[in-house]
Amino acid sequence: MNRKLIGALLSVSVCFLSLVTAWAHSGAMGVVKERMDAMTEISRNVKTVGRMLKEEIPYDGEAIANAGEVIADHAGEAMTRLFPKGSLQSPTEASPAIWTDWKDFSQLAERLKASALKLGDGARTDADRNSIMSDFAEMAGTCKSCHEVFRVKK
Ligand code: HEC
Repeated sequence: MNRKLIGALLSVSVCFLSLVTAWAHSGAMGVVKERMDAMTEISRNVKTVGRMLKEEIPYDGEAIANAGEVIADHAGEAMTRLFPKGSLQSPTEASPAIWTDWKDFSQLAERLKASALKLGDGARTDADRNSIMSDFAEMAGTCKSCHEVFRVKK
């Protein structure tokens, strides 16, 4: 991927993340609250890495590696088990499509996990900055792919 494209992806994903956080809900309970909290934690980590890659704060490979691990820990099965069938209690933004297209939904959760681990490994082994950028962009892309289909704005 070239620098321009990566730059564009970064700014898109970071803008998108700040909007997402602004919409965070209060008043949720039980598993809905648990998954909102997990998503918020994911988002906090993505933002920190995004700011480092945009050089708004100093680059720290170890911190990126740790962020990748935290995100991965909340992804895959840890994420999908927070979506028990029919858990649509207000103020959830989960779409009922999650349970009709469970396979696609869980694949996206796995993709997030794999891409977060890849980002973390790259940062830990001090891969070149371009490859870390493109791993980051790929990871942020999975948020968007899932939200577009499985999250509805209320
Ligand atoms: C497999 C699908 C999936 C992936 C991947 C995913 N999300 Fe989500 N996300 C959801 C769903 C569904 C909701 C709505 C949950 C609800 O309201 O019950 C959500 C909600 C959120 C929220 C709002 C939480 C709140 O308090 O209302 C944030 C922030 C968020 N996601 C960030 C992210 C970020 C950042 C990533 C990528 C690093 C990501 N998500 C990846 C499905 C996903």
